[in-house]
Amino acid sequence: MILSALLFAATIQAQGLPAGLNHLRFGCSQITVERLDPLVNPGLVGTPHMHQVVGGNAFNASIPVTDVSAIADCTTCGPADDHSNYWTANVYFKARNGSYKRVPQIPNRLLFNDKFTTQISGGITVYYISPGKGKVTAFKPGFRMLVGDPMRREKKYKMQSCYRCYTGPNYGGDNAAPCSDAKIDTEGFPPGPCLGGIRSNILYPTCWDGKNLDTPNHQDHVAYPTAGPSNFLSTGDCPASHPVKIPQLMLEVVWDTTKFNNKADWPADGSQPLYLSTGDNTGYSQHGDYVFGWKGDALQRAMDDKGCFSATCGNQKSQDISVANKCVIKKTVVEDADGWLDKLPGNPNMG
Ligand SMILES: *[C@@H]1O[C@H](CO)[C@@H](O)[C@H](O)[C@H]1NC(C)=O
Ligand SMILES: *[C@@H]1O[C@H](CO)[C@@H](O)[C@H](O)[C@H]1NC(C)=O
Repeated sequence: MILSALLFAATIQAQGLPAGLNHLRFGCSQITVERLDPLVNPGLVGTPHMHQVVGGNAFNASIPVTDVSAIADCTTCGPADDHSNYWTANVYFKARNGSYKRVPQIPNRLLFNDKFTTQISGGITVYYISPGKGKVTAFKPGFRMLVGDPMRREKKYKMQSCYRCYTGPNYGGDNAAPCSDAKIDTEGFPPGPCLGGIRSNILYPTCWDGKNLDTPNHQDHVAYPTAGPSNFLSTGDCPASHPVKIPQLMLEVVWDTTKFNNKADWPADGSQPLYLSTGDNTGYSQHGDYVFGWKGDALQRAMDDKGCFSATCGNQKSQDISVANKCVIKKTVVEDADGWLDKLPGNPNMG
């Protein structure tokens, strides 16, 4: 266990990450796959597109702006004190005959020293990273934010989210930090079949205005550093408007596209067969939502645990996967998300 943790840390060092960097990272199973979005469309039952959601059982069509750690009483995530919710669009494959099928997800098998994370049946690997320089302040109760834009269909050169095409089994091609190398990470969907599946990384802003728990577009209260890449490789300062350094929240999802790699099933005109649930086959509308819900100082303790790389930084209480899998919610929007479908759930604008 210690050896594998060291090997993992050594790999990270080899990737040229800043010294003193720490990672709290853990898996979270899905709590639902459903057309709800309590951040962007609070109260709406049946939102325009589908999401996959992980985390606490306070998730619903709306989530009161309050201390979510107190209204949820369980979580699908490894650390028992994380009652937050995280959600992303999901991916569908469009076959040559025009039918859609949801692409399954697989856990991050690279985190072999973390049994919980390799046991989740899909879902998301969540990272909270402290760049190792200066104080990182954990989010406050009621905090929420959004990164990305479900309507975007064009490249923006910002690498706030990206895809990595695994060129072979066992994470072929996985040899650089996420969204750091435009030669291997693309902002849009990889153009051809990926033999080992496709990884998505979504990187939230790392600077906060210090005042607002949320803003009308769920983005203006946070910002990226003024210099350097828009990810945890950046040791750049926060802008004066957003002076408080917050943890680098990153979501990682591995899409098991391997069943859909037969070119004979791809559209005859050569177009991209993968669609985000937003109705987008460019991939640029990838986005991530976050509603903070950690108990007490658990997240702050993890960020203060310098040099730690694990699911238990700051002495987190880990739960067993069998306990996490008992954390369930009742579906509000009941519909077929997993069969072969004539159209994407919600029939989103296909522009
Ligand atoms: C979710 O919200 C609906 C109303 O939209 C409500 O009837 C239901 O009780 C809520 N579920 C939970 C678990 O709070
Ligand atoms: C479309 O093609 C897929 C994959 O070949 C197949 O499984 C599905 O049944 C087909 N759907 C229809 C409506 O023919």
